[in-house]
Amino acid sequence: MTKKNSLLSLFICIFLIPAFSQNLTSSRIACGPWIQAVGETEFTVVWSTTVKSIAWVEVAPDDGTHFYGETRPKFYESIHGRRPITTLHTIKIEGLQPGISYRYRVYQQALLEDEGNKRVIFGEGYGDDILKNPVYKVTTLDSQAKSCRFSMLNDIHGNDSLFSKLTENSLERDLDFMLFNGDMLTQIESPQQIFDGYMKSAEKNFTPFLPLFTVRGNHEHRGSASWEFMNYFPSSTNKSYYTFRHGPAFFIALDCGEDKPDNDIRYYGLSLTDQLREEQALWLEEVVSSDEFQQAPVKIVILHMPPGTEKDWHGMREISRLFVPILNKASIDLMLSGHLHRHFFIQTEERGNNFPILINSNIQRLDVFIDENEIKLTTVDQTGQIQNNYTLKTKFTH
Ligand SMILES: [Fe+2]
Repeated sequence: MTKKNSLLSLFICIFLIPAFSQNLTSSRIACGPWIQAVGETEFTVVWSTTVKSIAWVEVAPDDGTHFYGETRPKFYESIHGRRPITTLHTIKIEGLQPGISYRYRVYQQALLEDEGNKRVIFGEGYGDDILKNPVYKVTTLDSQAKSCRFSMLNDIHGNDSLFSKLTENSLERDLDFMLFNGDMLTQIESPQQIFDGYMKSAEKNFTPFLPLFTVRGNHEHRGSASWEFMNYFPSSTNKSYYTFRHGPAFFIALDCGEDKPDNDIRYYGLSLTDQLREEQALWLEEVVSSDEFQQAPVKIVILHMPPGTEKDWHGMREISRLFVPILNKASIDLMLSGHLHRHFFIQTEERGNNFPILINSNIQRLDVFIDENEIKLTTVDQTGQIQNNYTLKTKFTH
């Protein structure tokens, strides 16, 4: 080999091959993973990758064995029997046991070339930075648990530094799940806005380990990418309203819709939330008459906008008209809301409600503990100082 050829080979090895590998074969995690739609026998893993990829999740019991001690079952991303090549990955893990911890790892493989029937080429398998990160572990819900503990954030409006402070140490507080009660952004113009606004900090502080429940606020109905919200935060019903049970508590999560009438000029004819609330009222009637709901010792409603009075805006008045009469006959113990950017504790009957309503402010975290007999509510500011404390007796009778 001539000196000139040697130098050329060296140049290719040092510069071109690594550049080619880095640009074409690496699919890295852009955000996540986070756990949605956890139930007693299932959970859904969601994450985003830097380039279009195929993806899967491997699951192992939390039994002290090495993750690579044996072949772990693979759960592939599938949309109607076809593996999607995408940057947003959603994989449902099923067949689990209640109240049991499982270890999991996410994997993705970058698409290198797609020439249809001729050939499709994928890059190297690329895990979740295995050498750097601990194994992720998540615990399924359990209706037989004696109690339930979670934290709620709302009305963050993309204030990532505040969100980060309010959620630090989340993994040290023995939580069963985290709850986002709406208006985490002011509008959704792109997935990147979701990541930068709060989800990257959520990933850093808790999401790979702590299940997350999300409901939309009125602001999650706004922005050119707002219709994609449920792709990022899927629920057990595939709708923006759903239920779940953990310990003694049955939770009903509702979508508040918009605050102004749908024909308001600022919605550009794109809002259909009057219809969405009507649809939910029919569903809510079914939920509160179900055995699963009625047999639960404690009943909690999650709804970003609280009920209103005649002096309030359209959305809150519609919630009073459509949801409150159904909830008033359902022995609800507590509604958790936000929206008003101030802390309020609404006593029973103040707004035609026969259940109390805790409205969390936009700058505090709400910590909740529930057992059969009582509900303990604590609000905490970004410095960790307790701001408000309540203990409520549940309506449960032995
Ligand atoms: Fe709001």
